[in-house]
Amino acid sequence: MKIVVIGGTGLIGSKTVPILRQAGHDVVAASPKSGVNTITGEGLQQAMAGVQVVIDLANSPSFEDKAVLEFFETSGRNLLAAEAAAGVGHHVALSIVAIDRTDNGYFRAKVAQERLIKASGVPYTIVRATQFMEFLRGIADSSTAGNTVRLPPVLFQPIAADEVATFVSEAALAAPRNGVVEIAGPERALFNEIVARYLKAVGDARQVVGDPEAGYWGGRVDESSLVPLGEARLGRIGLDEWLRRSRQAV
Ligand SMILES: NC(=O)c1ccc[n+]([C@@H]2O[C@H](COP(=O)([O-])OP(=O)(O)OC[C@H]3O[C@@H](n4cnc5c(N)ncnc54)[C@H](OP(=O)(O)O)[C@@H]3O)[C@@H](O)[C@H]2O)c1
Repeated sequence: MKIVVIGGTGLIGSKTVPILRQAGHDVVAASPKSGVNTITGEGLQQAMAGVQVVIDLANSPSFEDKAVLEFFETSGRNLLAAEAAAGVGHHVALSIVAIDRTDNGYFRAKVAQERLIKASGVPYTIVRATQFMEFLRGIADSSTAGNTVRLPPVLFQPIAADEVATFVSEAALAAPRNGVVEIAGPERALFNEIVARYLKAVGDARQVVGDPEAGYWGGRVDESSLVPLGEARLGRIGLDEWLRRSRQAV
């Protein structure tokens, strides 16, 4: 099959492209650097020629509320219009678990992206993942004041980027669901406890405090705001195994 991966150079994109190539598919890793830009429209029409599946793994360069909403709306509109015009048979997008029951600017932008997909008429599969383990440091940094990291004591179930790429590849090779598939890591524990374990393991001396008033990217969260509620496909790489693999990769 001919498959285009939009954001093919990013964290998940660069892990997804080789999986699909190894399975024998003709895969284009598309990004602004390779002349495909979903915001300006540059290179989009040419990139869609003869393509059966498009996987959207692009991310906004800015996480500021207005900028991120504009990114996912403009990118989604341009990309889906190009796919519809070219007769692409399957649009796969990576979204986030619980975006429609947890309120913050980034999640609102992902809800807007999903809405465009559902209304586009292009057959689709939305893969909703929990937070990536690779994102744990960024989460800690964004919740730090002085030497203290404040996080809400709510359930958390991060997933390794390698496993996200595997699940996304599987979705791309299967028939369109015209629906959502949820994926998560194998371990569910309190947000503050997982981040504390991560920081300790990487030798970071910051103290993590479970604070019920602390939000997530500025939004309020309750016990199950960040984890799948229904059926989800689970990865096998827990935090300790991911840390072991990360150390080996250095
Ligand atoms: N972080 C999490 O915990 C989490 C959880 C669930 C889902 N997600 C979702 O996963 C997706 C992938 O995230 P990621 O961390 O792999 O992203 P990333 O590493 O930031 O990579 C972003 C990719 O998007 C490309 N890109 C940026 N602007 C573009 C444009 N105008 N046109 C085309 N491509 C563009 C970048 O290309 P260049 O390399 O050329 O800049 C890069 O390849 C995102 O949609 C995110 O919302 C994230």
